[in-house]
Amino acid sequence: MTVPSRRAFLRSSAGGLASALFVGHGPRADGAPLEVAPPPRPVISPVPTGLTPQDTLFLTWQRDPTTTITVQWVGPEKPDLGTIRVAPRDTIAGWTTAKVVTKPFGNTEIRVHRAEVTGLTPGTEYLLQIGTSVHTSRFRTMPARATDTFTWVSGGDCGTGPHAIGTNQIAAKQEPYFALIGGDLGYDNGTSARTAVQFLQNYSKHMIDPKGRLIPMVTCIGNHEVRGGFRGKRYDAAYYLPLFDGLYKETTYGALDFGDYLSLVLLDTGHVSAIGGEQTDWLDSALAERQDRPHLIVANHVPAYPSFRSPAAAPVSGLLGMLGITEKSGGTGDENRKHWCPLFERYGVDAVLEHHDHTFKRTHPLTDGLVDRYGVPYLGDGSWGQLRPPASPEKRPYLAAVGQAYHMTVHRLEGEQRYHVALEETGRIADIFATHGKRPHRRG
Ligand SMILES: [Fe+2]
Repeated sequence: MTVPSRRAFLRSSAGGLASALFVGHGPRADGAPLEVAPPPRPVISPVPTGLTPQDTLFLTWQRDPTTTITVQWVGPEKPDLGTIRVAPRDTIAGWTTAKVVTKPFGNTEIRVHRAEVTGLTPGTEYLLQIGTSVHTSRFRTMPARATDTFTWVSGGDCGTGPHAIGTNQIAAKQEPYFALIGGDLGYDNGTSARTAVQFLQNYSKHMIDPKGRLIPMVTCIGNHEVRGGFRGKRYDAAYYLPLFDGLYKETTYGALDFGDYLSLVLLDTGHVSAIGGEQTDWLDSALAERQDRPHLIVANHVPAYPSFRSPAAAPVSGLLGMLGITEKSGGTGDENRKHWCPLFERYGVDAVLEHHDHTFKRTHPLTDGLVDRYGVPYLGDGSWGQLRPPASPEKRPYLAAVGQAYHMTVHRLEGEQRYHVALEETGRIADIFATHGKRPHRRG
């Protein structure tokens, strides 16, 4: 296929209109500008009563997954839930105990419970017990070295419906070491505690592998985690940040380093943190520090190269059109393409995981939006439990493969070899994509 030397759809214009037309918080009825979302309403959101820790139990990480684990659940605070304990499954080593810390969970009467254990042995299976209960769960620490072979899964835009559960079930069957959910988890919109709890209940129930091991969850933020969707404040992510601020303590972006072999760089596509400015400055230094990692993966919610929405600025009608303003600034992903993609290309990012458009998509390796064997592949596009029809590769030449199916991606890392298998809810393989070693730099 011939690819135009420079496509107009990768350009944007009318930048000065961005603030006026941005999807988010508009002016108030009294005409006064509203720069930030108002604080959450002082109502108590209804959640299921009688939650036990096992109802919403899930694992995540705040630091190196080869030697740590963070145990979390939501529910009423009880005196007998003050500690957790872990022990290796196959040795005589004794139990290690960790204190449970609790904190508010948005506008609810239940609390987030969190305990972190450090100093664990890499590549080891552990037993886990909570409080005084003898109910025992199991989990694994990540392998120690890049030469180990392991599988993990990624996807986004889940919700709480039957397809989200179906994709949970096929994901768990792959025995992944962890799941990366790239935004739009339960669709709580920063307002529905019940939805957030239902998402956790589904994850806790179904994201257990065939050998009975819990599958840790890593996330990045999406628009449906934040009241208003975009340009919110931290308190607008009322049911997301209380769960994940162990990793996102001060910012809503960050990096998670697995030993010396895998780094996940997790970004915020404008939901709480602006794409340009401080986040881009941080990204520049974070990628520079990690450019020699054997596996360097970025995840963000809104795609740089969308498969459903348009990357082009949309024409304007109505009053703005009558004023002679003919084009909206802000095709989907234009800020990513302006600020982030050049950094992905410069620092040898091996793949970018994108979401939000509710399709299966894989782009060609891209440099500056053009097909380039030295470029960066973008995998997505967020159809764990939501679905839309994708645009065709004929209409979007950056697309290499698309599909309209609920899916997640199975990533298998074997030393320097990477396989990315798009697996549909039905078990059908939609796509297999492989890369080896570090992406060679463009010559000349
Ligand atoms: Fe989204």
